[in-house]
Amino acid sequence: MALSEAVSPPRHIAIIMDGNGRWAKNRGLPRTAGHAAGAETFRRIANHCRALGVEYLTVYAFSTENWKRSEEEIAGIMRLLGNYLHEALRDMEKNRVRFRFFGDLTRLSPELQKLCQEAQTASSDYDVQVNFCLNYGGRDEIVRACRRFAREVAEGKRQPEELTEAMLSGYLYSADVPDPELIIRPSGEMRTSNFLLWQSAYSEFVFMNVLWPDFGPADLDAAIAEYHRRNRRFGGV
Ligand code: IPE
Ligand code: IPE
Ligand code: MG
Repeated sequence: MALSEAVSPPRHIAIIMDGNGRWAKNRGLPRTAGHAAGAETFRRIANHCRALGVEYLTVYAFSTENWKRSEEEIAGIMRLLGNYLHEALRDMEKNRVRFRFFGDLTRLSPELQKLCQEAQTASSDYDVQVNFCLNYGGRDEIVRACRRFAREVAEGKRQPEELTEAMLSGYLYSADVPDPELIIRPSGEMRTSNFLLWQSAYSEFVFMNVLWPDFGPADLDAAIAEYHRRNRRFGGV
């Protein structure tokens, strides 16, 4: 039975798109070829999410730690992102997806920053939202939120005692986005690698033994089915 017939999907799915390098290595290809295949998978999975009625899709595309990679690999990833954003801007009316970017974009090239800005602005009226995590780190996001709050305290606009969990959430990149119910990590690794540390407090994690370029709609359906088998207690009984 297709999942779409069976159950409604979570409102917000987040994915750590991992395993591109190993996929390429297994084929004797350069790592960048894995990233190109991974970008194709993203297109397919984003379409599938939209067809299922997922409202928010957050994808980890480049972490604050990924700058440790070779210049060549980083340039390849950035080129693929640029290509994707050009295409997204071209097909905006057809796809009707709202783009948001989580992360410190100032470290990206001016061209890429401009494309991100354009994609975000041009798509602001659409409903289904894709959050691209670019130069994103969960710890970095929390530190930035703390700095913003501290600045407001120093300026006399806020009192330290005023700070609540909800208020801190409002300083994050994800300010107006509900927490993800489901976080999927393909590639066999079982760690968060600094993804959505605050927002994942009660997310269900599904780790899968498939490399991201091989991840298909059926894998997403399987992850959602697994999510529906979980008993979410939120600390209750
Ligand atoms: C994920 O795939 C893509 C990025 C981190 C940019 P990897 O490149 O980490 O692939 P593996 O983990 O080396 O296989
Ligand atoms: C996490 O994958 C980051 C992205 C998928 C963008 P990594 O490949 O960078 O994580 P580690 O190094 O396995 O923890
Ligand atoms: Mg990896």
